[in-house]
Amino acid sequence: MRHYLGVTLAFAVARTIALPYPQIGDYGENDGPVGGVKPPTPTVTASSGSLRGDSSLLGGNAPLPDPDKSDSALVPDPEFVNGQGADAKLGLYLDFNSANPPQPIRGENGATDPGPRTFDYEKLNPDLFAPPGTDAGDMPNLMWPMGLSHNRAGTGKNSGWARQQNTAVLPAAKDMAGVDMRLAPNAYRELHWHTANEWALMLKGCVRVALVDDEGRSFVDDICAGDVWFFPAGIPHSIQAFEQGAEFLLVFDQGDFTEDGTFLVSELFLRNPIEVLSKDLRAGVDAFKDIPKDQLYIFNGTPAPKNISEQNITSSAGSIQGNGSFTYHWSQQKPFEVPGGSVKILDPATFPVAKMFSAALVVVQPGALREIHWHTTSDEWNFFLQGSGRITVYGAPAASRTFDFTAGGVGYVPAAAGHYIENTGTEDLIFLEVLQAPKFSDISVAQWLALTPKQVVKDHLHLPDSVIDALPKEKPIILTGNKNLTALAGGGSAF
Ligand SMILES: *[C@@H]1O[C@H](CO)[C@@H](O)[C@H](O)[C@H]1NC(C)=O
Ligand SMILES: *[C@@H]1O[C@H](CO)[C@@H](O)[C@H](O)[C@H]1NC(C)=O
Ligand SMILES: *[C@@H]1O[C@H](CO)[C@@H](O)[C@H](O)[C@H]1NC(C)=O
Ligand SMILES: *[C@@H]1O[C@H](CO)[C@@H](O)[C@H](O)[C@H]1NC(C)=O
Repeated sequence: MRHYLGVTLAFAVARTIALPYPQIGDYGENDGPVGGVKPPTPTVTASSGSLRGDSSLLGGNAPLPDPDKSDSALVPDPEFVNGQGADAKLGLYLDFNSANPPQPIRGENGATDPGPRTFDYEKLNPDLFAPPGTDAGDMPNLMWPMGLSHNRAGTGKNSGWARQQNTAVLPAAKDMAGVDMRLAPNAYRELHWHTANEWALMLKGCVRVALVDDEGRSFVDDICAGDVWFFPAGIPHSIQAFEQGAEFLLVFDQGDFTEDGTFLVSELFLRNPIEVLSKDLRAGVDAFKDIPKDQLYIFNGTPAPKNISEQNITSSAGSIQGNGSFTYHWSQQKPFEVPGGSVKILDPATFPVAKMFSAALVVVQPGALREIHWHTTSDEWNFFLQGSGRITVYGAPAASRTFDFTAGGVGYVPAAAGHYIENTGTEDLIFLEVLQAPKFSDISVAQWLALTPKQVVKDHLHLPDSVIDALPKEKPIILTGNKNLTALAGGGSAF
């Protein structure tokens, strides 16, 4: 098959149109005539013409165009990828990376696209561009790549940054919001508090966290990649990176939470009369001459002492320990392993302070599937840590939509909506599921049907006896699959 660019250039040369300059960054090959404009437009030294057409173009006065001689919307020699010709209802995962450009066609669904587009988005989102034939109806958008979030830089030199997902960018995510935050070596997230509860997973590096609760009990701990903290609403806390820096993921139980809307120690001092500060902290006015002139947000700090005891300050109320701990060293928990991957659960059974945060860290191997399931009462907030995968969300009564994810992406699944997560890449897919629930739980479709009277299942779904008899009475959680996701197109099998 001929390359699209080659085709375009051949046409361009034939029409003796000057060759276009490549787009900066090569965002694709949208370089033909489009919308009646034939780039490149001529370079002129003075303005001429008029901004509006004259009366000869009014209504039916304009000469009829000749469709045979006008710009063509045909796409010569479109390129197709493996599985693209298969029945659209098979919904095979289409890897568009080798197609230049990909075409929104699946089996008999769709047609070529001659118009303007951003090929990279289409390659990243094949299930939106050429949806499985089973997708139907209207589902809200349920994905947000952090790569599309505005990234707010810290104050001071290269101290860090934070980017977030909330209802401003993903309106359907009503109950949870997320922040991806970076702290440079020894940098702080300024002492602060907020109206939402905060659950966090360390992604890279280590930090020291500290807080003081309403009873005057203090808490300090050091946590590293894979560990978790929980800071309840209104409880002031500090976070400082160690010498290797840190990156962590924050999950809030308010969909419209914004990291830019927190209460800050610097602003608390700036927004109170100095007379009152002086009285409150028993200090002369001079003591306040060097307080920050603006919020600190994320900023560089002096290294924390390695010896945590030096930073363990307690009142008569003592320190918070045991069941009350605001951290959980989740990295030290061994995963539950099943064919196809592994899973670790953290919920109030072992981390009681986070009363309504239930999470699973899931690894799905290439070709494998996190089974079709739903969560009874809670929405699910996902974050993809590594690899690529796809989720189809089924919404009542008759809608579904399939979304593709890569590392750094946020997914959101409304409560009770059926969904699966399939690894669509060649590496392990690692992702986090977070629920607002006192227990991590789900309904497994396979187990539900296995434990439903056989005659009932058969009368509903007309599945062969052999399939019904083999349904698993225990939740599989993850299922192995063929690493070749288009094997069905050649008569192979999915698992
Ligand atoms: C750590 O600090 C505590 C409190 O200052 C001190 O008692 C202890 O000896 C220190 N430990 C080490 C190993 O330096
Ligand atoms: C802080 O000190 C208390 C005793 O006041 C102790 O029980 C607790 O383990 C210490 N915390 C750390 C992190 O060393
Ligand atoms: C921790 O929680 C368990 C189970 O709820 C309880 O039996 C135990 O007394 C608690 N321990 C402390 C120190 O609060
Ligand atoms: C996957 O299976 C299809 C259909 O049998 C086949 O055409 C294709 O070459 C296979 N891909 C790989 C990478 O083996």
